[in-house]
Amino acid sequence: MEVGILGGGQLGRMLALAGYPLGVRCTVYDPAPDACAGQVAPHMRAPFDDADALARFAQDTQVITYEFENVPVETARRLEAQVPVRPTPRALELFQDRLLEKQFLQQVGIPTPAFAPIDLENPADALEQVGCPCVVKTRRGGYDGKGQAVAHTLDEYLKAVARWGGMPLIVEAFVPFERELSAIGVRGRNGEMHAYPLVQNHHHEGILRLSLAPAPDSNTLLPTAQEYLKRLMDALQYVGVLALELFQVGDQLLANEVAPRVHNSGHWTIEGAHTSQFENHLRAILDLPLGSTAPRGVSAMVNLIGDIPPIAPILRIEGAHLHLYGKTPRAGRKVGHITLCADDYKSLKRALARMISRASLSLPEWVSF
Ligand SMILES: Nc1ncnc2c1ncn2[C@@H]1O[C@H](COP(=O)(O)OP(=O)(O)O)[C@@H](O)[C@H]1O
Ligand SMILES: [Mg+2]
Repeated sequence: MEVGILGGGQLGRMLALAGYPLGVRCTVYDPAPDACAGQVAPHMRAPFDDADALARFAQDTQVITYEFENVPVETARRLEAQVPVRPTPRALELFQDRLLEKQFLQQVGIPTPAFAPIDLENPADALEQVGCPCVVKTRRGGYDGKGQAVAHTLDEYLKAVARWGGMPLIVEAFVPFERELSAIGVRGRNGEMHAYPLVQNHHHEGILRLSLAPAPDSNTLLPTAQEYLKRLMDALQYVGVLALELFQVGDQLLANEVAPRVHNSGHWTIEGAHTSQFENHLRAILDLPLGSTAPRGVSAMVNLIGDIPPIAPILRIEGAHLHLYGKTPRAGRKVGHITLCADDYKSLKRALARMISRASLSLPEWVSF
């Protein structure tokens, strides 16, 4: 079973690693010479618009998938003429553009924050529709909080609009959410769908720092989140893993964004669920039976950002699982993660506090649960 993965970052790396026990061989396609998935799987290094390289890539694979949503849609469509591409390139097209994404969410009946496309000739019009405070975002290319700015006044808003020098933009109402959650589901070719428990996510400066799974007190929200996943995936005849980022406001869930791929907030599933998101993604795209998404106890996933802490103190902690991505440390870069597993939240909390102090992790103090 040969799988081609467009993109060779840590998600591609973890997909490739999940393939080994199943006898699935992955090859990654990435123009970057140092793509970290290339350390664990064959790496085809070529630009995304190199027709010959893409044809050779497709020749040796049974199915092609992608591990980041900014792969050009044309690349995925070109490959689709030769070999199945799962999830559908349509998902890339929709979810790499924040305007199409939000319009699609509304179309399938999933509530979102108020939003409006910004007409660069008349930017104030869009602000009237959503009000202040608001968040200005580039329609394309943003990640880890990049390409967005919060504005509290018309003046700040106009400055934010000017900052991206004519790039297509969207403005959203700023949501005073109680917490951020994500819903991760997997859908097979026959329409069978499973969802992982909801995950509670803590971001700092736009980057995910900590995920808790299952999210405490989230049982009553799960049916709604599952219904949203089902609407999204059924509408697209989606095959593979999909993540839906949500804001919780009271008992309401508002959709923030969709990732048509495995997701950082699902890394805990490697040790904390019966089947990891990576394995389930491979199973789905290869048309194999899906695995259970049930959790094993409770988990906390801490991202390692910027630099790699000394590993010995981490490895000494019972229930801690360290994953390093083989990337050169750089400010703001995700270089690894640690998943802590425990039987209940009380012991998880204790273990997390111990790990933060022993490993001198720079988790912001505000992280509490
Ligand atoms: N409309 C909003 N209201 C409040 N906070 C927001 C809003 N949009 C984004 N954020 C915050 O910024 C983070 C990153 O924004 P997001 O749209 O998910 O972009 P990305 O994850 O691609 O960088 C979110 O997880 C959330 O913490
Ligand atoms: Mg996000």
